Amino acid sequence: MKTGITNPFITRGYLCPDYFCDRAEETKRILDAISSGRNLTLISLRRMGKTGLLKHVKYQLEQSSKEFTVIYVDLLPTMNGNEMLNSIASVLYRIRKNERNFLERMLGFMSSLRPRLTVDPLTGEPSLELKVESASGLKSGLEQILRLISEIKHDIVFMFDEFQQIGKYPEKNIEAVLRSVIQEYPAVPYIFSGSSKHMLENMFMLPEKPFYQSTELMYLDRIQENDYRTFVQDLFSNGKRKIEDDLILKVFVWTRLHTYYVQYVFNHLYMKRGSAITDSDVNNLFHQILTDFEPQFINYRNLLSPHQFRLLKAIAVEDGITQPTSGNFISRNDLTSASSVSTSLKALADKEMIVLDRDKWQVYDVFLSRWLEYHYKD
Ligand SMILES: Nc1ncnc2c1ncn2[C@@H]1O[C@H](COP(=O)(O)OP(=O)(O)O)[C@@H](O)[C@H]1O
Ligand SMILES: [Mg+2]
Repeated sequence: MKTGITNPFITRGYLCPDYFCDRAEETKRILDAISSGRNLTLISLRRMGKTGLLKHVKYQLEQSSKEFTVIYVDLLPTMNGNEMLNSIASVLYRIRKNERNFLERMLGFMSSLRPRLTVDPLTGEPSLELKVESASGLKSGLEQILRLISEIKHDIVFMFDEFQQIGKYPEKNIEAVLRSVIQEYPAVPYIFSGSSKHMLENMFMLPEKPFYQSTELMYLDRIQENDYRTFVQDLFSNGKRKIEDDLILKVFVWTRLHTYYVQYVFNHLYMKRGSAITDSDVNNLFHQILTDFEPQFINYRNLLSPHQFRLLKAIAVEDGITQPTSGNFISRNDLTSASSVSTSLKALADKEMIVLDRDKWQVYDVFLSRWLEYHYKD
């Protein structure tokens, strides 16, 4: 049976360089940091391509030499220090599970943490669960794992994705614990990544914080329009399909060149049968996307106060706003007063419904933004 990929525009994860657009400079900068033993923190909007880029760097390292072991840990699902420890232990186990007796050694080594091997019933992926009783237990657990990792006869690189998550853990001293354990192995480079600019900048730029000045910050922007256009043209022509540049541009504008949304639209356009993509194919697809997501979007109305929803609509209809507390914007959109706008703005930003992007407040989810615009623009 042939199991080749049928659509080169992937909308989740990472496959290989063929389906990955550009990021050449960014990749080089991260590889340089790693080979110089420097730590680096990658920051961007959600869905701009941080995880993809980390996986791309991981792929490059592992292809370039068998001497690298990259330990990639996604912290997004973790809620406390114990779960972070479980994630790191599980990644380590998956990397080394084919070595003889590794599980026995690992279980023995960490026996004070009462390790338990479990298997995800849906994915079949093995995980390790440990039991940490106290802050000092967490520290020694981390030390034990790092000691096991340091036995690997390779160059080690750590990648902590969605690192700002540790700021939400109930443990107050988690940053200090992690920092002190990490410092015991200064030769290992760490790449941190996350979408909460504010939280990450606080962690790394405030002098009183344990991670102060421990990494360089790297902001991941949009992929350049020219590079993305070439990428789209190449993938279409490789698949014996045709699309004109002006339609590609139309998609870039509609999606604000925000990577996930660009990928999503071209993934669907690629499936259109017939000769060349037409303008009405593109319009029909935009409409279909808004319809597909509508049930979810309608729900937001119930979760927000009427004033918050009015502000959200106004931001979408104006395709972003630089000064949301200006008198004109408030009267145009029936938003009562500057102080009520400030309150709602903060509430929407805290819920990550809106975001400050290139000096403009925008509705964070591009499709939601287009849906609001479509329904409420008169
Ligand atoms: N350079 C790229 N070329 C093509 N697709 C990409 C690229 N970077 C990311 N993607 C895709 O875009 C989507 C969002 O990227 P992701 O890395 O998950 O964003 P983030 O981690 O910043 O939230 C994913 O589906 C991913 O496969
Ligand atoms: Mg990610």
